[in-house]
Amino acid sequence: MNEVVSMSGLQIRPYELLLSSNDRAAIKAQKPRCLWLTGLSGAGKSTLANALELQLNRFGLHTFVLDGDNLRAGLCRDLGMGADSRRENIRRTAEVARLMVDAGLIVIVATISPFRAEREAARQLFSEGDFIEVYVSTPFEVCAQRDPKGLYRAALEGRIKDFTGIDSPYEAPLQAECEIDTQAIDMEDACLRLAALLLKK
Ligand code: ADX
Repeated sequence: MNEVVSMSGLQIRPYELLLSSNDRAAIKAQKPRCLWLTGLSGAGKSTLANALELQLNRFGLHTFVLDGDNLRAGLCRDLGMGADSRRENIRRTAEVARLMVDAGLIVIVATISPFRAEREAARQLFSEGDFIEVYVSTPFEVCAQRDPKGLYRAALEGRIKDFTGIDSPYEAPLQAECEIDTQAIDMEDACLRLAALLLKK
């Protein structure tokens, strides 16, 4: 993880800190991990992330949610919805998630993150078993019907472009650790399943 990087012709070797992620997590009595929720807009990722974080907090665990809409309001406000911007959005989110895991936190990411290659690159930032990919597989028709922000309607009427599932692709995971269709399972059961994955020894 501490590989040399080249910057403006200089070789930069990341400084090795004395404390590890596990040292930081030990005083929180938890195993830091990243749970990565991917799925269409309106699939229920944010709702799920929020409910899960609340439950983990009640167990006394130290958590953080990295939500797509929130990140796009700040860290990623310079990015659009074209493919390159989405790739950069996923890259930044993954790097921040990794820093938070290094800080000893349990991180829940909730972004569409539509591309397999970038989700795979995100996985590579973490130690084996510390990246848990969850496919929130609520079908397109259900998401479009829910349309909580009116975005599907706007996209179908051509008022917004590059909308995931309409004129921008979504590449479903092939081997996610878990799949949740929010139509088929209630929120409490979904949270229990995800908490069990996160807390697995
Ligand atoms: S990602 O594709 O780059 O991972 P991200 O999760 O950060 O997307 O942001 C998606 C959010 O942006 C959606 O929840 C929705 O509210 C909003 N949004 C605005 N325009 C679009 C669009 N063209 N496609 C998808 N989501 C959009």
